[in-house]
Amino acid sequence: MTLAGPSPSTIMKAYRGKLHLSIITLVLCSFAFVALFYTERVSPLSTNSILKLKSCSKKSATKKSSDKTAEESVHNSLLDDRFDFDPEECNVVHGKWAFNRSIKPLYTDRSCPYLDRQFCCVKNGRRDSDYRHWEWQPDDCTLPRFNPEIALKKLRGKRLLFVGDSLQRGQWQSFVCMVESIIPEDKKSMKRGRALSVFTAKEYDVTIEFYWAPFLVESNSDVHIIGDPKQRILRVDSIAKHAQHWEGRDILVFNTYVWWMSGLKIKSLWGSFANGEEGYEELDTTVAYKIGLKTWANWVDSTVNPNKTRVFFTTMSPTHTRSADWGKMEGLRCYNETKPVMKKKHWGTGSNKQMMSVVASIVEKMKVPVTFVNITQISEYRIDAHTSVYTETGGKLLTDEQKADPLHHADCIHWCLPGVPDTWNQIFLAHL
Ligand SMILES: *[C@@H]1O[C@H](CO)[C@@H](O)[C@H](O)[C@H]1NC(C)=O
Ligand SMILES: *[C@@H]1O[C@H](CO)[C@@H](O)[C@H](O)[C@H]1NC(C)=O
Ligand SMILES: *[C@@H]1O[C@H](CO)[C@@H](O)[C@H](O)[C@H]1NC(C)=O
Ligand SMILES: *[C@@H]1O[C@H](CO)[C@@H](O)[C@H](O)[C@H]1NC(C)=O
Repeated sequence: MTLAGPSPSTIMKAYRGKLHLSIITLVLCSFAFVALFYTERVSPLSTNSILKLKSCSKKSATKKSSDKTAEESVHNSLLDDRFDFDPEECNVVHGKWAFNRSIKPLYTDRSCPYLDRQFCCVKNGRRDSDYRHWEWQPDDCTLPRFNPEIALKKLRGKRLLFVGDSLQRGQWQSFVCMVESIIPEDKKSMKRGRALSVFTAKEYDVTIEFYWAPFLVESNSDVHIIGDPKQRILRVDSIAKHAQHWEGRDILVFNTYVWWMSGLKIKSLWGSFANGEEGYEELDTTVAYKIGLKTWANWVDSTVNPNKTRVFFTTMSPTHTRSADWGKMEGLRCYNETKPVMKKKHWGTGSNKQMMSVVASIVEKMKVPVTFVNITQISEYRIDAHTSVYTETGGKLLTDEQKADPLHHADCIHWCLPGVPDTWNQIFLAHL
């Protein structure tokens, strides 16, 4: 596997979206509501994936395929007019979800012993199953399916660490579940910790780990989560306490987004504040996010050796709490949705383009190349794939009463597993 990533300059121009203040307010207010209840479910989230984006013109793909045997390309063109996947050439962000009943996920929430109950929709009572049979098809190339053997071979002798929130934790569990079924019982182990959890595949000498740091930077709501977003205070320029646990890895995958979206302002501390937590200042969300990510970028640039370690960043995972976004005025958030949105480029209020452009502009200036796993657009379509009422809150399954009140209790942030995060990992693996 090549260790050098794409040069930062190849990574997407920053999106220059300008939102009207009123829209931002609306979005942030709906987030505040959401955040309030998702924090109750107390999960470290982890998420992500991003794709490195380069335009994938068929012309350049053609040139590339001349390296391959003529036979191969003839074979290909008989099947369809898309090209074999090449991470340098194909932009997987553009494409569509295609339904295929014969696609089976690589695991179920009963077969995989490592899933948090929170993501186990079937176990938790979800009966419709179509959401498990959609496949992402990029317009310009065929994305290889996730192959557990290839994944473990690519990782052989390596340590892979996912860092972030509960969406990232879902992505980590999806990855572990997709590879664990081909490993015999006595050749694998899982150690769950408060902050760091480690899955080990002994024969391959591989670890697949997760570290809980919902803001990446330090806050007073990391280990002991504070339910009320207004009480949370972030140390936007401090990361060492977490980052000391990230060293020595071969592959790092970061995310952070939804925890920042709980209000209009973020209580932030930086420098040495003589009066402790009292000395915070309230910063606009995008400003605090920018400082926090800059702190993360400085850590990466000063600590990570790009010849040894590859760095990925999963873009924001969309939330689907406003059914008017997809034209259902009387909808109950994502509750009862059983089909993806089919409108091309559908984009809802749960994905803030300004926040996306903050990430892009910071990554662009980094010395160490960072590959985006750009999951935002592909996941925007998947209003049908959230845990909804088939989840738990505070360690308990929703009661029948709560299930009957989806407006207040449906979780339209997290995703069922198996489900959409499997596709994030499919994309991630293709770029590894
Ligand atoms: C659906 O998936 C099956 C199993 O992977 C595959 O053989 C078949 O070609 C797929 N069908 C379509 C229409 O893509
Ligand atoms: C990475 O490798 C290149 C080429 O071998 C070398 O010039 C560079 O100094 C190395 N960088 C680090 C940080 O070791
Ligand atoms: C949800 O879907 C089920 C099955 O289609 C239907 O019976 C029920 O009325 C729907 N609930 C709401 C609140 O729309
Ligand atoms: C991710 O893809 C979207 C298009 O779907 C694009 O607008 C955005 O800039 C990309 N994000 C990054 C960080 O590259």
